Amino acid sequence: MKVVLRSLTLADAENVAAAMNNEKVLANLRDGIPFPYTLTDAEEYISYLLGADKNAVFAFAVEVDGKAAGIISAFRQNNIHYRTAELGYFIGEEYWGKGVMTRAVKLACGYLFDNTDLLRVYAEPFATNHASCRVLAKAGFSFEGVLVSNAYKNGKVLDMKIYALVREEECAEDEEE
Ligand SMILES: CC(C)(COP(=O)(O)OP(=O)(O)OC[C@H]1O[C@@H](n2cnc3c(N)ncnc32)[C@H](O)[C@@H]1OP(=O)(O)O)[C@@H](O)C(=O)NCCC(=O)NCCS
Repeated sequence: MKVVLRSLTLADAENVAAAMNNEKVLANLRDGIPFPYTLTDAEEYISYLLGADKNAVFAFAVEVDGKAAGIISAFRQNNIHYRTAELGYFIGEEYWGKGVMTRAVKLACGYLFDNTDLLRVYAEPFATNHASCRVLAKAGFSFEGVLVSNAYKNGKVLDMKIYALVREEECAEDEEE
């Protein structure tokens, strides 16, 4: 199974819609995403990502054996958090449990640390999202803590977990000072 990251195109909308039109996927994402999730919804989301500031939103198709299985994106934060980015990702259910997203997270972070000034990439999965927590741990992220009662999703109060990967060279520089 070959996993690569590449630029998104509007032609990916069909596969993205197929992946997102699944309540099990949406249950692990933030609110505001329509369900059912249509081709038009996917086209609008991809258009937004393609039109966003290239230095603030870094979005890729997660391609598995030549087919877009999902999306991974990093969103640069504001103000004093300018050199941090939040990572978000999903793939269609038929691809789960095959190591796809672990590979994609590693590739995305490699790209971000090689091509941007970001110091820190973090993700905040629901504490109940064991698969996502495991992906982050397998991709080398540090578990930094539990954000207690940090979300209200589908009628439930949920804890979230925060994981981060920090640029190695900057840590080394700081230590030398
Ligand atoms: C989370 C998600 C991206 C994981 O992608 P994936 O390609 O299946 O992940 P991987 O196969 O690389 O790794 C999944 C790991 O979680 C484990 N896992 C899966 N379900 C689990 C569960 N219920 N409990 C514990 N571990 C679980 C797998 O066994 C695997 O670990 P292992 O390699 O040690 O066996 C995918 O399930 C998804 O798109 N979910 C919906 C959207 C989402 O949750 N996005 C993240 C929001 S923070």
